[in-house]
Amino acid sequence: MFADHFDNDDMINAILEGIDEGIHAVDREGITVYYNRIAAEHDGLEVSEVLGKPLLEVFPSLSAHTSTLLQVMEKGEPIYNQPQSYRNVKGKLIDTVNTTIPLYADNTIIGSLEIAKDLSRVKDLSLKLLELQAKADDRSAKARKISGNERLFTFDHIITASASVKDLIQKAEKISHTTSPVFVYGETGTGKELLVQAIHNASPRRHQPFISQNCAAIPSSLLESILFGTARGSFTGAVEREGFFELAHGGTLFLDEIHTLPLDLQAKLLRVLEDGVVRRVGSSGSYMTDVRIITASNENPEDLLADKKIRPDLYYRLNVVSMRLPSLRERKNDIPILARHFISMFNYRFNRLVTGASKEAEEALMQWNWPGNIRELKHAIESAMNIAEGDLIEAGDLPPFLLDGYGRAASVQSRSLKEAVSEHEKVLIEKALRETDHNVKKAAALLQVPRQTLQYKITKYRLQ
Ligand SMILES: Nc1ncnc2c1ncn2[C@@H]1O[C@H](COP(=O)(O)OP(=O)(O)OP(=O)(O)O)[C@@H](O)[C@H]1O
Ligand SMILES: [Mg+2]
Repeated sequence: MFADHFDNDDMINAILEGIDEGIHAVDREGITVYYNRIAAEHDGLEVSEVLGKPLLEVFPSLSAHTSTLLQVMEKGEPIYNQPQSYRNVKGKLIDTVNTTIPLYADNTIIGSLEIAKDLSRVKDLSLKLLELQAKADDRSAKARKISGNERLFTFDHIITASASVKDLIQKAEKISHTTSPVFVYGETGTGKELLVQAIHNASPRRHQPFISQNCAAIPSSLLESILFGTARGSFTGAVEREGFFELAHGGTLFLDEIHTLPLDLQAKLLRVLEDGVVRRVGSSGSYMTDVRIITASNENPEDLLADKKIRPDLYYRLNVVSMRLPSLRERKNDIPILARHFISMFNYRFNRLVTGASKEAEEALMQWNWPGNIRELKHAIESAMNIAEGDLIEAGDLPPFLLDGYGRAASVQSRSLKEAVSEHEKVLIEKALRETDHNVKKAAALLQVPRQTLQYKITKYRLQ
């Protein structure tokens, strides 16, 4: 509602009342001139209790220094996306993200306006997640006393035949005994989480907490309080809460998709890493923290730096130990061994006795380019095991995209055309050789190429 002495415009009024955000405007004297229904809901008040009254009278817990509406008016500068957490007069905890701007007319400030987005629900969910995680840690702490930390993966869970991954595991085993930050880079599904858990689990910190958080999963405005905690009274009636650094004390904090952390928080994180001191949001005190930081990203660090998604100073601090997990395309010799591993995993889960994959099925697995990497392979096997009827997974049991033209088209995009064509050529030659019992002459006839050409390609692709 507009106050009487304010120009009343039905149209604007209807628009503003229809908006799903709290809107509060004051004039130069700090008197509320506009206050909508949502703002009233946030504050637990009636519109009439606020409208036309001095702000500080209605909100006695605020002062000229703590009220953002009065502050922007005084400084003439807007405040964007400021998280606020407070209890309203009815005792309800309110979490909002506020943008407050000074209102100008003819170059003079005539008042200020605050728009408040309600985040209570999102925050509720995020905090529930934290509580569940804490509970799970608690439970595993109890279980650990009996049987060791079984909840997390160990290096033994990393199945590989690839020399580069084996090297990586060796390096990871070594560095698990130190406290240096580790930066893990690898496409989605390449096993970053697995590797990070294994590092924690092999470290002297294994009996301490392991906290894993995907930075992209939490609204950026809440990340600060979730990482560093909040102090009581930082805003009117804010609750006290431990941040991840406190929860992970003595253990390992894994921050996934680190490049989604807003740049100002990256600066704050850098300071914590440099002096080991954490300050809760809204607190003047600070405490020392002993946390090993492991970060990960599924984007190439060079691109992240070039695109300014990660601050260089933070990156170099995080990247003391650097680990790159190769994509499944780069380690095709891992496909058969991983496929077997997942087959036995699902045999156990589904109570089946599948012994392997047919030649054609294996061929299809080998030629696909696996943009979703090991996770995608795992799902493909799971799906095939739902369909397979006999002892073997047949090509027809596999998800259709592995077999049709889409797969090859996708392969071309993520590799060079030449590579993709060679790959396909190799598959066709292998197939022809199998069908002709490795008779090169017959295979050449089948493929309609001169025998010498085929012989050359067999040597080139080492298919003898
Ligand atoms: N070498 C491996 N041996 C066995 N299982 C693996 C291996 N690598 C990955 N997995 C399995 O593949 C799935 C995906 O792995 P993980 O979650 O660690 O990938 P990620 O790199 O963290 O992916 P994202 O970037 O999407 O978070 C998990 O089920 C994991 O257990
Ligand atoms: Mg992950």
